[in-house]
Amino acid sequence: NLSQALIDHLPKAELHLHIEGTLEPAMMLELAKRNGVELPYASVEEVAKAYEFDCLQDFLDLYYQGMSVLLTERDFYDLTWAYLVRVHADRLTHVELFFDPQAHTDRGVAFETVLAGITQALEDAKKEFGITSKLIMCFLRHLPEEEAFEALECACKHKDHIFGVGLDSSEQGHPPEKFARVFEAARKEGFTPVAHVGEEGTAENVRDALDLLKIERVDHGNHALDDAALTKRLADQQTPLTMCPISNWRLKGIPSLSASPVKKALDAGLLVTVNSDDPSYFGGYLNDNYRAVVEHLDVTEQDVVTLAKNSFAASFLSDGEKQAHL
Ligand code: HPA
Ligand code: ZN
Repeated sequence: NLSQALIDHLPKAELHLHIEGTLEPAMMLELAKRNGVELPYASVEEVAKAYEFDCLQDFLDLYYQGMSVLLTERDFYDLTWAYLVRVHADRLTHVELFFDPQAHTDRGVAFETVLAGITQALEDAKKEFGITSKLIMCFLRHLPEEEAFEALECACKHKDHIFGVGLDSSEQGHPPEKFARVFEAARKEGFTPVAHVGEEGTAENVRDALDLLKIERVDHGNHALDDAALTKRLADQQTPLTMCPISNWRLKGIPSLSASPVKKALDAGLLVTVNSDDPSYFGGYLNDNYRAVVEHLDVTEQDVVTLAKNSFAASFLSDGEKQAHL
């Protein structure tokens, strides 16, 4: 059908993607074997069966367990390369991806090992497919501020490869103000700030992330729409939102895909984008998320074109680079 062909044909950027969340069950088992890591699963089917989540924390527990198989530079290369090959087929031409270094340095894997594997795959994808990219380092919000400062110190040695800083992991109990100082330091060092807010948390978290962390893009931001004044502010300033419909549904942030706020955000004039978040864990890559929007929301083909255009408009590419992608 027409929408399907349109989705497949449109060049798109993905702006909300955790590289560790692209670890497919088959690769998880393969790397476990390669690295001698014990997993509580014997088969791909057993892994897939474990992926039933009632909330964000349910997912995070398995997400951190899954990444225990990632140890060497080659592992991070293979992981990143597999994602890029997969989304090249979805006509992705630009990606701004998150990585969670603290989840690796905490296990004794060096920051440089993680970064080298990811960046080599990104460079190869540029050469091989013409895919452009930016890397955003996330602080894990359930860990202390002091450890975020340690991650920032590592990032400062690699400004050539790390563009921005973000904030992810458990939103409940870890409000933006906990990271106000580390974000201020990161901004002073030239990193572009973004944050996951309003996923399970409230509109107040979104406002605080804008005011205290000075974020330039809102990751998720679903609950921003609960607040009319905040919605207007986001629309007036054209602050981008990176929404993830299948993720929201699988983590029970919404009861069904038809409850995704993507259409409401479009209608409110927000610079909203559609993304996959952690495609392996949630069972859908970039185009699956676009298809979910088309199938479950009352969107027009013009809306689909707008979403694809928004993905570049909301990116951190320069205006000239944005034009080159359209
Ligand atoms: N939210 C919070 N933390 C995360 C996510 C997310 O969507 N994905 C990976 N870590
Ligand atoms: Zn996310």
